[in-house]
Amino acid sequence: MVEHVLHIAASPRGERSVSAQIASAFLSALAERKAVEIDRLDPWDCDLPEVDGDLLAAKYAGLAGEPLTPGQAAAWDRIRKLADRFHRADTLLFSLPLWNFSIPYKLKHLIDAISHKDILFTFDERGLSGMLGRHRAVAIYARGLGYGPGSQTPEAEFGLEKRYLETWFRFVGIETVDSIVAEQTMGASGAESLAQATAQAVELARRY
Ligand SMILES: Cc1cc2nc3c(=O)[nH]c(=O)nc-3n(C[C@H](O)[C@H](O)[C@H](O)COP(=O)(O)O)c2cc1C
Repeated sequence: MVEHVLHIAASPRGERSVSAQIASAFLSALAERKAVEIDRLDPWDCDLPEVDGDLLAAKYAGLAGEPLTPGQAAAWDRIRKLADRFHRADTLLFSLPLWNFSIPYKLKHLIDAISHKDILFTFDERGLSGMLGRHRAVAIYARGLGYGPGSQTPEAEFGLEKRYLETWFRFVGIETVDSIVAEQTMGASGAESLAQATAQAVELARRY
């Protein structure tokens, strides 16, 4: 069976990106084990729909059961097509840098563009239910500083990108999540940190 992976590559640094290099090691090791089809989604190089007043008018008209204008229907169709790439995948692979203790804004833009009722979740009298329940996620994080106990930036307070993404995974129904974190990527131990995280990624792919 072919494993369909949607790789959301959220660093704009191309091949120099630490998170992308680790993701690439994961994908190469995975391809040695099974047939893999990769759909690469680069939020920096993709015409993301603006989540603006017009789009929200379409969203709220839909929620109210009102007919959409042709323009609104076209806007909503773009959102659906983007979200379909998430539905089609078996695995969502995210690679991202920590930016100001959060996720890069283009990744947030992508998430805001696709996370709507009846697109990635349903909502009824029983509450929220994510629609990506059969998916797995692999999240690869790269951070310039260290987040261990005793550091100036301890994980619980400063590791917000990981917590946010894990909350979003739960929201859309993904329960199986593997995380790999490379820290202190900008310091003297950067190469060691990259090597360690790469080894973890290869190991994960081998038992995937
Ligand atoms: C705009 C910007 C903001 C950053 N903010 C943080 C931060 O809050 N904490 C941190 O540890 N590193 C921060 N960094 C460093 C990156 O997280 C680090 O260089 C990471 O390894 C980059 O990953 P990449 O190579 O995949 O892009 C920041 C880098 C940039 C460019």
